Amino acid sequence: MRRTHHCSALTKKDVGKSVRLIGWIQSIRDHGGLIFVDLRDREGITQIVFDPKNNAYTALLPMLKDESVIEISGTVRLRPDDTANPHIATGEIEIIADTLKIYNIADTLPFPLEDSKADKVNEDLRFTYRYLDLRRPKNLRALRTRHRIAHTVRNYLDRQDFIEVELPYLFKTTPEGAREFLVPSRQNPGSFYALSQSPQQYKQMLMVAGIERYYSLARCFRDEDLRADRQQEFTQIDLEMSFIDREDIYALIEGMMKIVFKETLNRDIKTPFIRISFQEVMDRFGSDKPDTRFALELVDLSSVFKHSEFKIFRDCLEKGGSIKAINAKQLADITQGELKILEDIAKTLGAKGLAFIKYESGDWKSPILKFLSAKEKDALREILRIEDGDVVFFAASDWLHACTILGRIRLECVRLLVDHGHLSIPRDLFNFLWVIDFPLISFDENQGRYVSTHHPFTAPVEEDEEKLKTDPLHVRAQHYDIVLNGFEIGGGSIRIHNSELQSLVMRNVLKLDETTIRERFGYMLRAFKFGAPPHGGIAIGLDRLAAIICGTDSIRDVIAFPKTQKGQDLMAQTPSYASEKQLRELHITTVIPQEK
Ligand code: AMO
Ligand code: AMP
Repeated sequence: MRRTHHCSALTKKDVGKSVRLIGWIQSIRDHGGLIFVDLRDREGITQIVFDPKNNAYTALLPMLKDESVIEISGTVRLRPDDTANPHIATGEIEIIADTLKIYNIADTLPFPLEDSKADKVNEDLRFTYRYLDLRRPKNLRALRTRHRIAHTVRNYLDRQDFIEVELPYLFKTTPEGAREFLVPSRQNPGSFYALSQSPQQYKQMLMVAGIERYYSLARCFRDEDLRADRQQEFTQIDLEMSFIDREDIYALIEGMMKIVFKETLNRDIKTPFIRISFQEVMDRFGSDKPDTRFALELVDLSSVFKHSEFKIFRDCLEKGGSIKAINAKQLADITQGELKILEDIAKTLGAKGLAFIKYESGDWKSPILKFLSAKEKDALREILRIEDGDVVFFAASDWLHACTILGRIRLECVRLLVDHGHLSIPRDLFNFLWVIDFPLISFDENQGRYVSTHHPFTAPVEEDEEKLKTDPLHVRAQHYDIVLNGFEIGGGSIRIHNSELQSLVMRNVLKLDETTIRERFGYMLRAFKFGAPPHGGIAIGLDRLAAIICGTDSIRDVIAFPKTQKGQDLMAQTPSYASEKQLRELHITTVIPQEK
């Protein structure tokens, strides 16, 4: 069994050659006398012709269903002019078959594999038969693109003197991060590993070890609820460097994006990327991962409503809150149902309501119209540049909350504007930006305490350091996120490299208890006493980057065997039960009985 060519290789130049091809049957067509087989492999399709008059093997064809695996030998010949297919590389030729060997006769397929039909098939069915789903050229292309990105990144980082180091996946459970997967240790009854959420602590230890420049394509595990851009296991382009500052990271990653987009899409990405502070992105876009491919920016109306008749707005301002608004231009054709959806979204984010004004045929329509003075209307018209056909939405709350609510409403409005045909977002626009100057510390309402906005190893901006004890919420972090078209595709920071400062953040600011600090982070604090170099790094979400490059909304499309919303692999039926013997060996005694 040795093929002479891939199914995309043969052209006019090969006419007359004897060849042997192996592949899957894409289709079989009986054209009164001659039988045509489209044979497909990873690279493409070739048309094979069986002539029953000269080829006894033709009799075997009726038992072969689509997707059966066969080998044929034959001779390349030109197709008659009017039957050439300009859409495929081999469209000018066909193979007149001599022999046929059958390797595997396929069953009837659970769903059709043509893109136009398969795209409409329920995802669960496609994932149950993912090996069939992946035969579709579109999915194969996504895996190839992902490979190309990984390959380009590896070469790029190698040229920049990085060393690829594999780091452990079995780590220890650490507080202050995402929910973890625990793995019981058979050899140490009662003890657990946690699957690594990211190689954060190990990569910092590599810097203490003097590696200077580390990278790896690291698998990360987080027991999170899944969304289109989130999986429980995903891959980071993870890296860390010593003796650098934020500018070095920006330049390194901008260079990486430039070469990745050139190699995959042949696109020239403009650098440097713009940088916007957290304060400004929230204020203008209501999101720390703003999609800047469209405007629809948030506007502050606090000055307009200072003395408003509308009690909700006035009270909010008196309590130090903000009134923010967006003008969804041309969305006055929004339906009642759509308005209700927007209001519900605002409410799920904790808004008390979502006031709006429609301006249509010179008329103001709004549930808050009776509260608006002529002066306020004039001010609104001017500040929001209200024109006929516009709808304005308002949020009144504390500044961050009002921005967050309208940030979501902004994205929903864009979805509606696209649906209603008022807006189109060019598919080939790639808007990169850095979000910088995040607060180092946030207040977690649920836990009623200070938490790290990112992780406890992030260094504060130097001139803010002295506020750590007195005013931690106003300390800026040396953290940066890279955002592309509304997705956070990566994040990182310059780290704390000194034991005293690290200990101050953990003890005095985050108020972690002594046992937690000693048991979870003690080794790190110790390591920082043995010559820790200044260092920093970043991790790029490879799945998200690949999804954007492939033009898909879901990272599941660029993962070979993704998990469903419920965290299951439907093909292999994972997760599954463990036997009593296995559980006993792991010293697990209390388990919810499972159906076997
Ligand atoms: P962070 O948690 O921000 O940082 O992760 C870095 C990037 O990884 C991607 N990402 C995900 N992709 C798919 N599914 C998920 N569940 C998921 N979670 C995160 C995102 C994100 O920007 N150790 C730090 C990095 C550092 O400080 O160097 C870290 O893990 O694109
Ligand atoms: P009410 O007087 O409670 O009916 O509210 C009048 C309008 O204001 C309704 O359309 C509410 O959805 C809206 N609204 C109420 N609270 C807020 C708020 N905090 N921010 C924005 N709109 C609000």
